Amino acid sequence: MLKVNGLEITARTSKERLVKGISFEVGKGETLGLIGESGSGKSLTSKAVIKLLNDRVFEISGSITWKNEEILTKKAKLPKGWRGQQIAMIMQNPMTAFAPMIRLGRQIEMGFELKGKNARQEFYEQLEIALKNVNLGDMKKILGSYPDELSGGMLQRVMIAVTLMKKPELLIADECTTAVDAASEYMILKQLETQRKNGMSMIVITHDFGVAARLCNRVAVMKSGSIIEQGKTLDVFSSPQTEYTRELAAASVLFREGVC
Ligand SMILES: Nc1ncnc2c1ncn2[C@@H]1O[C@H](COP(=O)(O)OP(=O)(O)OP(=O)(O)O)[C@@H](O)[C@H]1O
Ligand SMILES: [Mg+2]
Repeated sequence: MLKVNGLEITARTSKERLVKGISFEVGKGETLGLIGESGSGKSLTSKAVIKLLNDRVFEISGSITWKNEEILTKKAKLPKGWRGQQIAMIMQNPMTAFAPMIRLGRQIEMGFELKGKNARQEFYEQLEIALKNVNLGDMKKILGSYPDELSGGMLQRVMIAVTLMKKPELLIADECTTAVDAASEYMILKQLETQRKNGMSMIVITHDFGVAARLCNRVAVMKSGSIIEQGKTLDVFSSPQTEYTRELAAASVLFREGVC
């Protein structure tokens, strides 16, 4: 479904190569984990895939094909609703996903085409379930709030619920459980697993090897803008080919055991 080949991202002002010719693929129903240290280029890569990078800030080259069509060129004609319905992204920073001056209810509604009273009623019934599925029980309060009236973790969960409601074919989840409590994380991972079983493909960006092991068929390890290792999750985690992956895995275990 998604093929990325030799993707390069360079900052126009500093000429710094931030992503250095990386390649990976995600098939239907497959989940790819992107792991690696802070600043290694995981978010930039995913924003390039969903075409959210500003051309004036970044020079992007290489190839990204979605269902065999090149989408990286300016000429690429993407159908209405492509972003959201075909490929959707849960942002690492939920504040950037919402406009600060508009109540959440109105913003969420704007993302869906609701025609008629019945459609609205059905939509709100589904939204209530979707919010409950990510541990948010009080829909009324959430819809009446401005983004900065909710905590980062709550906002992140609103974004997850709304994104999943669209049932995208490929979901990019950029560290989507970092700001949430353990009970909510458990519920979110369950939601992702259910949608994966229903055929959704995913790119899961995470620092948590446990999350990657649970969700991902394959993982790619990024360091300083390059993919230094990729393969089946079990193979990469059980016999890492690079010292860097070994260290990341060891650090993750120490963290989980509460040593640091
Ligand atoms: N708008 C920008 N302009 C210039 N450089 C940028 C911009 N956004 C990101 N970068 C740089 O690109 C590199 C990769 O950033 P990116 O956000 O992709 O990292 P990441 O792997 O997602 O890190 P983290 O795990 O902390 O989220 C970093 O060195 C960062 O400073
Ligand atoms: Mg990031």
